Amino acid sequence: MVFGDACPEELRDAGERLSVDELRARQLALLQSTVRAAYENVPHYRAALDGVGFAPGDLRELSDLSRLPFTTKQDLRDNYPFGMFAVPRTSVARVHASSGTTGQPTVVGYTQQDLDTWADLMARSIRAAGGRAGDVCHVSYGYGLFTGGLGAHYGAERLGCTVVPVSGGMTERQVDLIRDFGARIIMVTPSYFLSIVDELEARGLDPRDTALRIGIFGAEPWTEQMRAEVEQRTGIHAVDIYGLSEVMGPGVAQECVETKDGLHIWEDHFYPEIIDPVTGEVLPDGAEGELVFTTLTKQAFPVLRYRTRDLTRLLPGTARPGLRRMQKITGRTDDMMIIRGVNVFPTQIEEQILLVEGLTPHYQCVLTRPHNLDELTVRVEAAPSHHPDAARELAHRIKSRIGITATVELLPPHALERSLGKAKRLKDNRPK
Ligand code: DLL
Repeated sequence: MVFGDACPEELRDAGERLSVDELRARQLALLQSTVRAAYENVPHYRAALDGVGFAPGDLRELSDLSRLPFTTKQDLRDNYPFGMFAVPRTSVARVHASSGTTGQPTVVGYTQQDLDTWADLMARSIRAAGGRAGDVCHVSYGYGLFTGGLGAHYGAERLGCTVVPVSGGMTERQVDLIRDFGARIIMVTPSYFLSIVDELEARGLDPRDTALRIGIFGAEPWTEQMRAEVEQRTGIHAVDIYGLSEVMGPGVAQECVETKDGLHIWEDHFYPEIIDPVTGEVLPDGAEGELVFTTLTKQAFPVLRYRTRDLTRLLPGTARPGLRRMQKITGRTDDMMIIRGVNVFPTQIEEQILLVEGLTPHYQCVLTRPHNLDELTVRVEAAPSHHPDAARELAHRIKSRIGITATVELLPPHALERSLGKAKRLKDNRPK
């Protein structure tokens, strides 16, 4: 792996330079004020805390947080649209919302100060990824209610970049603009970036000949194998960015280009915990489980112990020694497949696909239940030059490395639908 230049000390925010002791003291003070504000201004939190007999003044140390109830997506749905806001609606400068494909949409709100904090943290993220003032930054995350486009946009502006607000779609035009405007940074989902690279290559262009040097990829899980594939094909640094609308949007955690070893959590604004997704018990750093966040500085939409459903582990800081890292996300609890008792995530399938010569990262996992047992079919596009044994090799790898039997279906290039944003890796065709 090739690493990029570290952000010089003098360009870093104060929050990136805190020692662990300074950080913990700050987190405690911010947590106390957040819990109090949530209790006093959001009926849901008042009822939830009263329900467990916890008063805001009971929070004396960080470990007291574990006594608070979790907040789930269902709580946000039940309070649709503005019931979780902690400030009067007239102080809310902007809302974003989830698409609502899996139920009632959820709405989140920001005061002007929240938007400023978000822009600052996104600027910090882009800098940690290797971006600098003066860079041309091409934003292909969707603009609108999704937080990706506008979140990236204001962060890149705050950093002093020249922003190209393209949003997703019209892949041919994306390629024209990348070439004509000389973007050095692209912010996009990794799956849509592959479509852009395919388009470049289809025109007979070598992606290495563009000015692109940094890809800031997030909004969906992607693997180390995907990083290797993208970096090798395009010559850019591929770094991971994480976030979710309920906690803020993109820029909750960011991978540093000089280490590419997981994402530093901007812990001066978000307090992370890892829990056992079944029992809810808090797990020690290093253990894998579900990521839970409590916001420390948000005004309009504070969240207490929000269950993200994302699976990862917390690791000590490296490039930013005071801040913990989270390992690349393995998957969401909702995307876990159980095949004959073995838990599998699409990312594990992706890892194996990219180790087989001639198979592309365009794939989909299809679940069926023909004889009352779940079966997995992996549909994957193969390059015209693929080896005749590629399907058998992938099935063998999945069996020997993951421990499940899967049917592999090779498809011609472009057989699978391309997504303009988040890729849908899992298709559930089981009877409801
Ligand atoms: O996807 C925010 C975002 C935009 C992050 C652009 C990064 C870049 P939501 O639509 O609310 O917000 O979806 C949040 O997406 O809980 C994860 O399951 C997934 N996700 C986000 N970033 C990553 C990542 C945006 N780097 C949900 N790796 C989260 C894996 C990610 N999954």
